[in-house]
Amino acid sequence: MVYAGDTTQSLEKPVTILTLKKMKESGEKFITVALYDAPMAAMAELSGVEVVLVGDSLGMTVLGYDSTIPVTMEQMIYHIEAVSRGNKKSLIMGDLPFMTYATPEQALENAAKVMRAGAHMVKIEGGEWLADTIRMLSDRGIPVCAHIGLTPQSVNKLGGFRVQGRTPEQARKLISDAMALEAAGADILLLECVPEKVAEEITENISIPTIGIGAGKFTDAQVLVINDILGLTPKPPKFSKNFLIESKDIPSALKKYAADVKTGVFPGEENIFH
Ligand code: KIV
Repeated sequence: MVYAGDTTQSLEKPVTILTLKKMKESGEKFITVALYDAPMAAMAELSGVEVVLVGDSLGMTVLGYDSTIPVTMEQMIYHIEAVSRGNKKSLIMGDLPFMTYATPEQALENAAKVMRAGAHMVKIEGGEWLADTIRMLSDRGIPVCAHIGLTPQSVNKLGGFRVQGRTPEQARKLISDAMALEAAGADILLLECVPEKVAEEITENISIPTIGIGAGKFTDAQVLVINDILGLTPKPPKFSKNFLIESKDIPSALKKYAADVKTGVFPGEENIFH
């Protein structure tokens, strides 16, 4: 697919987990966007977005649910297939939705479906309790991104979409979860809505890349949801930014987001939790 506009920063070759590990080592931040369809996936490739996340946030951003809990495997597969048709160079990460990885065996069966749909990596939410699951997937050749901090599938247990890790005990728990997940074989760690200092400490103390959303500026990468980047969210979260306002079209907005992350302009102080 070809779109009008400046394509000078489009990805030259397919991004792999080795590309991302090398970027962490060299200190270059990588860009992640959560998106859900073929045209946006194509624009992400043209705009140099290294990682595309087909997140279960699609339950809220596309399907109109109040949370990610109703999202099904069938819905995830439908959107992962669409994204993989539109984008051949970004690394595609697919979420396993609520209650599809409650045991390692169930996780393996569902992760295989997500990989067959076109994902290169699966993402699952949870801390140390996922160690056996991650070992199971990783030993069988499935790369895993572990998601900690605000884990939206646990919104009812957490009592709302709230910043996590603010007390010293919670911060220590997040740090020990991060270590345990890396030791179990996770390839990437995603940190959502945690104080910047906690994310910085985790990023410095593990060798796998960290991706942050509402986790400050010291993570190895940033992720935003396409709806927030394009101003489609009626009450946007504090950690997000509408990049379309200052851009002429969608590829330019994605490139502005990418450039601002790579140069340390985004996230700004107004987007960070302490
Ligand atoms: O589902 C999703 O899009 C996510 C991001 C918000 C990190 O998990």
